[in-house]
Amino acid sequence: MRAPLVIGNWKMNGSLASNIELAKAVAASNLSDNVQVAVCPPMLHVSAVAEQIKGTKVGLGTQTLSEHDNGAYTGEISANMLTEMGVSYVLCGHSERRALFGETDKQVADKVKAALAAGLTPVLCVGETDAEREAGETLAVIERQIRAVLDLQDVFPATVVAYEPVWAIGTGKTATAEQAQAVHLFIRTLVGSETQILYGGSVKATNAGELFAMADIDGGLIGGAALDATSFAAICNAVR
Ligand code: 13P
Repeated sequence: MRAPLVIGNWKMNGSLASNIELAKAVAASNLSDNVQVAVCPPMLHVSAVAEQIKGTKVGLGTQTLSEHDNGAYTGEISANMLTEMGVSYVLCGHSERRALFGETDKQVADKVKAALAAGLTPVLCVGETDAEREAGETLAVIERQIRAVLDLQDVFPATVVAYEPVWAIGTGKTATAEQAQAVHLFIRTLVGSETQILYGGSVKATNAGELFAMADIDGGLIGGAALDATSFAAICNAVR
């Protein structure tokens, strides 16, 4: 049975002080026993957030990692450095990383591999752009992004998949529950019945219940609404 999972992606938001407060508020929230929860603060705030959520049910994640183990990679952070800090989850190939920082399918696959080797849970982010959906390429794009990691050993169910249609991220546009379910069902055929598949893209407390009610939507990857502890907790508690 797949456990429901909700992850907050704080992106590059907040200050040290405000993110400590946010972590404290999420940790103090009344969260259902049913749901696994994690937050991904900005990298520099990881240790301060870790302090706040220690001993609670809120897990720690980061928004990216290096695919390399160590060496001359100025500015990068390795998988082992993350595990040392108590990190459990790491987003790999978020659409903003792919679009703004040029991450390729191959590089994303290398990041998933590095994360798995260090005992982290990778969260492989996939999703089509508006133009790709309009051109009828949604499933082909998702399949290409997932096939890039399928050749690795034992990737699923150790890796979580997050389906985030790029046109729904930060836009207020959400895929309908039926649209999202159709893509999740397709992803399921590639990654198997035990893999957790999350939906992301303008999930709010008001639409989470409808999305999470779908058979193959196992939770969410939440951006903007994760910056408010009350709405994040309401989303976490909307799982089946
Ligand atoms: P929003 O929830 O702000 O649309 O962001 C989704 C996202 O990119 C989470 O990783």
